[in-house]
Amino acid sequence: MAGRNKKMKIVCIVGARPNFLKINPLLHEFKRYAQAFSICLVHTGQHYDIGLSKIFFDELGINKYDYNLEIGSGTHAQQTAKAIVGIERILLKELPDLVLVVGDVNSTLAGAIAAAKLHIPIAHVEAGLRSFDNNMPEEINRKIVDHISTYLFTSCPEANENLKKEGISSDKIFFVGNIMIDSLLDNKKRIKFSKILNRLKLKKEEFIILTLHRPENVENMDNLVSLLKVMVNISVKLRVVFPIHPRTRKKIDPFILRRINKKLTIVNPLGYFDFQKLIANCKLVLTDSGGIQEETSFLGIPCLTLLDKTERPITIRCGTNHLVGRSKDVIIREVNRFLNRPTKYKTKIKFWDGKTARRIVRVLFYEYKKRLNHKNGNKI
Ligand code: UD1
Repeated sequence: MAGRNKKMKIVCIVGARPNFLKINPLLHEFKRYAQAFSICLVHTGQHYDIGLSKIFFDELGINKYDYNLEIGSGTHAQQTAKAIVGIERILLKELPDLVLVVGDVNSTLAGAIAAAKLHIPIAHVEAGLRSFDNNMPEEINRKIVDHISTYLFTSCPEANENLKKEGISSDKIFFVGNIMIDSLLDNKKRIKFSKILNRLKLKKEEFIILTLHRPENVENMDNLVSLLKVMVNISVKLRVVFPIHPRTRKKIDPFILRRINKKLTIVNPLGYFDFQKLIANCKLVLTDSGGIQEETSFLGIPCLTLLDKTERPITIRCGTNHLVGRSKDVIIREVNRFLNRPTKYKTKIKFWDGKTARRIVRVLFYEYKKRLNHKNGNKI
């Protein structure tokens, strides 16, 4: 183990918006075990817009990262390759005992590959999720990361099953629950105090939230245009608030954007507290985001997912999620169905309880003690 004080040194890798929410509860928990862990936080810079990155660090109070690789945008290969090179340089300097990666974005993949090639053990938080569709870039990231990780922390029983079916040994898999829910519960008060409803002149349950950023919805112009037409159609019934991802904004002609802005309420990406306040108060969510499928399921808010598949089937089995794909008729039918129904549903999903970070750090602390004792020649 690193250093004279025999702490376990962990390099944590983040890069994109959802990663910041997943790492924050862990950083807090590691602090409680300061005698055991020394943490180094690396931001790859995959997300660099203030609204996708800085605002999350500021709001969540994440004490600055130790490194920012500023990899920025690019093709998947360019983005991943730049991050691998940068992370490798840091790992060679820091010589950590463990690399911790979260989620399924390109930065997650880069962190895991750089670590594996240097024979550094990897912990993957949110392991085992599968859409069984390799056309989703995240699916490729998930599979590779899981197969080279040493500790696989899962959020639902399906994930454990997926990993076992792929031949991953059970003793590497730890069912710990959903780390996103830790963030949601930790910030409950601050979300409550958000003034976003006043700012956008919204009334409880009198609006729908829309988010769109997945390549299958926004890179294919036919799909994007058809989805936007459906949303304009829906906005006649209830106001649609659309915090627009930069990737999606770039795809829409500014003239069209101005025209649909008269129908939809288009706003820049929101900070975490404002966005969660909107979710908690809306009538319905329309989205293609994985994290939002989970948050709505936890909160009991109906969610229509604009995809054909989800890597998070537990949100359908035990939550409020419904897959509606991209068909105009199906989307409108389901929206109508939910507009005439109650907004809140009761849901309870095992270990989505705000204690996931605690469970993860306990596993790692046990490993720390084991190594320490081994070093000192004791058995535990
Ligand atoms: C990434 C993740 C996705 C996650 C999402 C959350 C991958 C493969 N995808 O998708 O799993 O759900 O983040 O937001 O890692 N851009 C900006 N400013 C930024 C960041 C991106 O303008 O701060 C634009 C760039 O043109 C970029 C494009 O958005 O090329 C896509 O960004 P990228 O990080 O590749 O993927 P996301 O769509 O954000």
